[in-house]
Amino acid sequence: MNVQLSEEHLMIQKAARDFAQSELLPGVIERDETKEFPHEQVKKMGELGFLGLMVDPKYGGSGMDTISYVLAMEEISKVDNSASVCMSVCNSLVNWGLEKYGTEEQKQKYLVPLAKGEKLGAFALSEPEAGSDATSQKTSAIDMGDHYLLNGTKNWITNGGNASTYLVIAQTDESKKHKGINVLIVEKGMPGFTIGAKENKLGIRSSDTHSLMFQDVKVPKENRIGEDGFGFKFAMMTLSGGRIGIAAQALGIASGAYELALAYSKERKAFGVPICEHQAIQFKLADMATNIEAARLLVLKSAWDKDAGNNYDTSSSMAKLFASKVAMDTTIEAVQVHGGYGFVKEYHVERLMRDAKITQIYEGTSEVQKIVISRAMLR
Ligand code: CAA
Repeated sequence: MNVQLSEEHLMIQKAARDFAQSELLPGVIERDETKEFPHEQVKKMGELGFLGLMVDPKYGGSGMDTISYVLAMEEISKVDNSASVCMSVCNSLVNWGLEKYGTEEQKQKYLVPLAKGEKLGAFALSEPEAGSDATSQKTSAIDMGDHYLLNGTKNWITNGGNASTYLVIAQTDESKKHKGINVLIVEKGMPGFTIGAKENKLGIRSSDTHSLMFQDVKVPKENRIGEDGFGFKFAMMTLSGGRIGIAAQALGIASGAYELALAYSKERKAFGVPICEHQAIQFKLADMATNIEAARLLVLKSAWDKDAGNNYDTSSSMAKLFASKVAMDTTIEAVQVHGGYGFVKEYHVERLMRDAKITQIYEGTSEVQKIVISRAMLR
């Protein structure tokens, strides 16, 4: 693996860091409290090319590699994980699949505005009874000749309320099990498509999480991505890339919390000296820094695998499994370093601790990552 960062990598890293500090940090505590989606900030992210980072410029994207993507994700996630999950879903779960498997017409109609950040996308796989067990899709897409008739409910859909374009996974032929599943492009406003209330969550509170309801929605045949029955494979491949983005988000949460703890430990005095001079704090900082470095190497390795054209199913699951645990452990310790101040909102670490938990749940729980990894080992 060669992950020597290029000039371009350093530039995007700095651009993301500057953006996070100047545009996302102001108001992040208030948005967390009120659950208000960062509309203006996400609009600017789109204008700067963060939402179509890896899409070919001929489809309106920034044409960057996956290393650039994880560097940018880390910086944004140090500050605002409701913005960074929106960025991750747009890049990994929607744009990637449209660019790789969409028809030219689908790309022109749907990918171009998404890559330019003019519209937001959502990926709808999870259901009330199909989370980790993703093959048990109950949402049905019945083949009616020139269109599919879509019925069912999707749960926990990021960007669910603000998206315009939804990639919806649905069962067409139950007898074929996962080989009877399709992926359809559904537009907001199609008759019969309604959106539930925004969820009230522990973390990433201002991110836009909703249920989606489909009742006899007519989706034209030309909105199917790939061959009949390709939907499950499409979803699994999409999630392999998505896990790189979430691993980078977890890395950002951990490194953001670590940076705050490090700075605080130099300022706060106890027993006559800054607390960083106490070995109890030094050991915590050393553990955090070591874990973060290990997580960073796994995240970069999975991004490098994707850019090099290697299979990245295992490396992305390893990166997500490890980085999300590091995010959880590091944020808990960062709160501890801050003492009582860590328990109040002004110091940011309690928010990062709440945000960290979702990285062990979405785009496959830690247990799902262990299934993916162990299957590869045993194969
Ligand atoms: N690439 C290509 N094909 C794949 C694949 C991959 N990465 N993973 C599986 N497949 C294929 C298999 O080859 C198999 O195909 P064949 O029958 O043709 O060989 C088929 O898919 C079924 O695979 P499995 O038998 O492995 O499937 P399984 O039912 O045992 O499930 C699982 C495996 C790993 C648990 C999977 O169901 C899974 O990943 N579940 C978690 C789902 C998930 O991550 N949901 C997140 C929702 S999205 C989200 O969270 C977004 C957000 O809001 C931020």
